[in-house]
Amino acid sequence: MSEEDHQFSQAQQATHPARKIVFGSLISLSVLPIAMLLIAVLWSVKPMIKQSSAQNDTAQESAATNGHVKGALINFATCATCHGVNGEGNAKMHAPRIADLPPWYVKAQLEKFQNGLRGVNPTDVYGQTMRPMAMQVQDVDAMAKIVSDLEGHRGRFAPTGPVITGNVDHGRVLYAQCVACHGVNGLGERGVKSPTIAGQESWYVQQQLMNFRSGTRGISTADREGNLMRIIVAPLSDADIADLAIFVNAMGNKKTVTPQ
Ligand code: HEC
Ligand code: HEC
Repeated sequence: MSEEDHQFSQAQQATHPARKIVFGSLISLSVLPIAMLLIAVLWSVKPMIKQSSAQNDTAQESAATNGHVKGALINFATCATCHGVNGEGNAKMHAPRIADLPPWYVKAQLEKFQNGLRGVNPTDVYGQTMRPMAMQVQDVDAMAKIVSDLEGHRGRFAPTGPVITGNVDHGRVLYAQCVACHGVNGLGERGVKSPTIAGQESWYVQQQLMNFRSGTRGISTADREGNLMRIIVAPLSDADIADLAIFVNAMGNKKTVTPQ
């Protein structure tokens, strides 16, 4: 078992001991089937998870009462199986780093998954693994708050997967056309609903830019923000996208910034 596998299995164990056995047998399979199977498993053991996570719910409820989140209907444990216990992401699951995202963006994306603006395209294999999860979130405001309260802040996490190959200097040049919306430091701009991207893992940035370009994401006319991104990435080559992904990731090497 590789170290990553081991960490993954530990995350599962922390979430629910009984699921370790189920997931342990899945780990040797390739990534995509894991994602699909994980969903199947999560769905089929849902009542069991519900029952056994009562303790978790209580802990979360008291955290919620102590903090500012009240009435969160779902805890982060389920999300952590793919996104990592600290929201650091998990390349094996194709699940991005979400700890650095601002709450308004998390909310918007959960709603896009719920409303069928994201994760419905048959070519969107990874989005389709996320959509059923979003469907289970009843209180998107509370969930968004939980996610944005995770201690992220770019650069704190080691990469969970391979850093893709690209030319960071060329990426910097290309990034000039992104500044207007994502900001000079990649922190995003609430006014145009563009998220923090600095420090996001390169494989995910690459994947999303590809998804926008192919219409896998952002194709619905109701998805105004996605439509915008599609216009931006249309002229980019595969090499441009790789270079941008490397640069966007590298922008996260400052630990001082916080989500807006
Ligand atoms: C089965 C694995 C899995 C679980 C469980 C899961 N996610 Fe995801 N999530 C993903 C994947 C994969 C993506 C990337 C989808 C894509 O490529 O477009 C994603 C994407 C997201 C995004 C969009 C991030 C962005 O930068 O646009 C958010 C927000 C998110 N997940 C939140 C959550 C929350 C909150 C939970 C728990 C309620 C959760 N996820 C549970 C797999 C999962
Ligand atoms: C006109 C404004 C605008 C410009 C210019 C722009 N973006 Fe975006 N970008 C957005 C918005 C808005 C979103 C959110 C899309 C959504 O809601 O699904 C986004 C989403 C993204 C995402 C997905 C983030 C995630 O967490 O899933 C990436 C990656 C991204 N942009 C990178 C870039 C890069 C690289 C450039 C320059 C080549 C760029 N953007 C230029 C507005 C813009």
